[in-house]
Parts: sequence; structure tokens; C-alpha cells
Amino acid sequence: MYEYLLLFHSWFRWLVLILATVNILMLITIPFTADSIHSKLIWFYDQFFGYQFFMGLTMWLFASPIVKVIFSNWKLIFNEYIYFFWGVQHPLTMTIALGVWHSFSAKARRTVSVKKYLMGIAFSTLLVLPAIPWPWLNIGRNLFRWYL
Ligand code: HEM
Ligand code: HEM
Repeated sequence: MYEYLLLFHSWFRWLVLILATVNILMLITIPFTADSIHSKLIWFYDQFFGYQFFMGLTMWLFASPIVKVIFSNWKLIFNEYIYFFWGVQHPLTMTIALGVWHSFSAKARRTVSVKKYLMGIAFSTLLVLPAIPWPWLNIGRNLFRWYL
């Protein structure tokens, strides 16, 4: 179960990042209409961001071996960066990023505001990017998970 969640969570990051990029480029370049491909792509961004959050939260609460160690001894987060990263930094930043996206997208929907959609995607992505375990960081993971 955990291995599959981690596998999907690892690959879904690319979907979230690609959808963010495509949406930003489209919102900047093509005039927005509510029934256009725009709103479908924004819907996909919203969905995949949500799935990503849900998978991450499930691993964090129930499955991740590293988070289980933290739950049994919270002091570890002050001692080793890897515990701080998986226990606090990654989950908290990503949750805030989702909250930022939700509040901007709710406002954007009410006011049909392209600018609010753009800001929501841009700000949430700026939060997400530095909280990803990129391979060049000391808590890094592979860019592409080809194994279980
Ligand atoms: C857009 C949001 C998110 C992105 C892009 C993201 C990205 C990632 C990536 C790239 C990994 C490493 C996967 C691998 O090892 O191949 C990971 C692992 C993990 N993430 Fe997220 N994540 C997001 C949201 C969250 C949230 C909201 C939580 C928790 C509330 C979370 C909890 C975890 C946990 C527990 C792990 C596995 C740690 C382990 O057991 O090794 N993630 N995430
Ligand atoms: C995967 C879990 C979640 C689901 C399914 C979800 C679902 C929703 C939905 C359907 C809306 C209404 C959107 C609209 O009116 O356009 C919303 C709004 C919102 N959500 Fe979430 N949400 C989730 C997690 C979160 C989290 C973790 C946060 C904060 C950290 C958050 C913060 C907000 C905020 C601030 C609003 C805007 C309220 C408003 O201005 O009307 N959500 N959410």
C-alpha cells in the first residue's frame, strides 16, 4: 500500500508541475472564456493537486516509515534535518500551498478573474517547488521513481 502511494505521489508531482506550467502559459497568452479548454485545464490542476495532497496526507498519517519514527519521538525534528523535512517542512508547506490555491481559485471563480487564477497557480507553485525533495538536496529523492 505505502509503496504504491509513494509511487503515485512521486509521479503525480510531475502532473501537478506540468499542469501549473501549462495553465500559467495559457492564462497569459490566450483570452479566457469560461467554457474553454482553460477551465478544463484549471479543473485538472485543482484535481491533481487535491489527489497529491490526499496521498501525501495518507502516507504521513498512516504509512510512511520515516514519519512513524517521528511520531514516536518528535524531538528528532530538532536534531536531524531529514526528520524536520518529512515531519514538518514538506507536509506543512504543501498544505499551505493547497490552501493558497483554494482561496485564490474560490475568489477567481466568484469574480471570473484570470488574474486571481494566475496568482493562485503561481503562488502555490512557488511554495511547492522548494518543498520538493529534489535529488541535489541532502534529503533528496530521485526525479523519476522507476522502482517500487
Ligand atoms: C503538490 C504537493 C506535493 C508534492 C509536489 C509532493 C512531492 C513529493 C515527492 C516528490 C516525494 C518523494 C517521492 C519519492 O520518494 O519518489 C514525496 C514524498 C512524501 N510526501 Fe509529498 N508532496 C506533496 C504534498 C504532500 C503533502 C500535503 C503531504 C502530507 C500532508 C506529503 C507527505 C509526503 C510523505 C509522507 C512522503 C513520503 C516520505 C517517505 O515515507 O519517504 N506530501 N512528496
Ligand atoms: C484534499 C482536500 C481538500 C478538498 C477536497 C477541498 C475542497 C474545497 C472546495 C470544493 C472548496 C470550494 C472551492 C470554490 O468555491 O471554488 C474549497 C475552498 C477552500 N479551501 Fe479547500 N479542500 C481541501 C483541502 C484544503 C486545505 C488543506 C486547505 C488549507 C490549508 C484548504 C483551504 C481552502 C480555502 C481557504 C478555501 C476558500 C474558501 C472561500 O474563499 O470560499 N482546503 N476547498
